[in-house]
Amino acid sequence: MDTHGPIDIEPGHSVVFLTGAGISAESGIRTFRDARGLWEEHRVEEVASPEGFAADPALVWRFYAQRRAQALTVAPNPAHHALADLERTLGPERFFLATQNVDHLHEAGGSKDVVHMHGELFRTRCSDEDCPTLPFHDERHDFPTLPRCSCGALQRPHIVWFGEIPFEMHTIKRRVQACDLFVTVGSSGVVYPAAGLVREMLYRQEQGERVRSVYVGLERPENANAFDAVILGKAGEVLPGLFRVLGA
Ligand code: APR
Repeated sequence: MDTHGPIDIEPGHSVVFLTGAGISAESGIRTFRDARGLWEEHRVEEVASPEGFAADPALVWRFYAQRRAQALTVAPNPAHHALADLERTLGPERFFLATQNVDHLHEAGGSKDVVHMHGELFRTRCSDEDCPTLPFHDERHDFPTLPRCSCGALQRPHIVWFGEIPFEMHTIKRRVQACDLFVTVGSSGVVYPAAGLVREMLYRQEQGERVRSVYVGLERPENANAFDAVILGKAGEVLPGLFRVLGA
């Protein structure tokens, strides 16, 4: 399906959104896969894994410093604004947003509650898992020396690296299992567990529940067959006006 009318959200119904790199593409954030998995001459796994950080923390911080500097220059697009509007209309009981993106564009677009399952570019934490210091907001993007926690250990980006477990999966799954409509936007459907969330909706349909799932993005994702509808297009063009909240 690539033509579409509005999708109705009925009174009392709730929606869960899962967003991926595609929603930030029109804002100018390059994805890992755009760059064919390479940064400068390095494989992304070298700069985005616990092993990579242990081997060369300076390289890893240089990578994230560059990404932070780039993220500071971009602005949200109409897709981010559309989701913020829907959150305002539906409220926290009926709207839930989880993103795989580490950028801050949902918040910059006005979203209040965003679950960053892969962490956040503008947060830093202590690399010692036993240190009580909490992750903190951090826009630094120039590191003359490696940043250290007051406990003495190195600080690290608050990012879920390859081989690490995404944040808040329990909450996300619970919300998906309770929603009436699940919408994925701009995610190639290859990185799990995010790509598997739509299967919860299939399972519920098999149990006789009348729930729906929709994908919005530029091309068919790997997991396209699991969705009830696939709407092809740019997120910033498709999302504004896609949803009609009945009784609002
Ligand atoms: N609007 C909608 N979709 C778009 C747009 C756009 N303007 N531009 C690109 N896309 C689509 C692409 O067609 C692609 O299917 O967005 C998807 C982006 O896919 P990926 O780059 O694989 O991003 P994502 O699925 O979010 O990656 C998941 O993998 O790299 C790791 O941890 C990183 O969170 C990331 C995760």
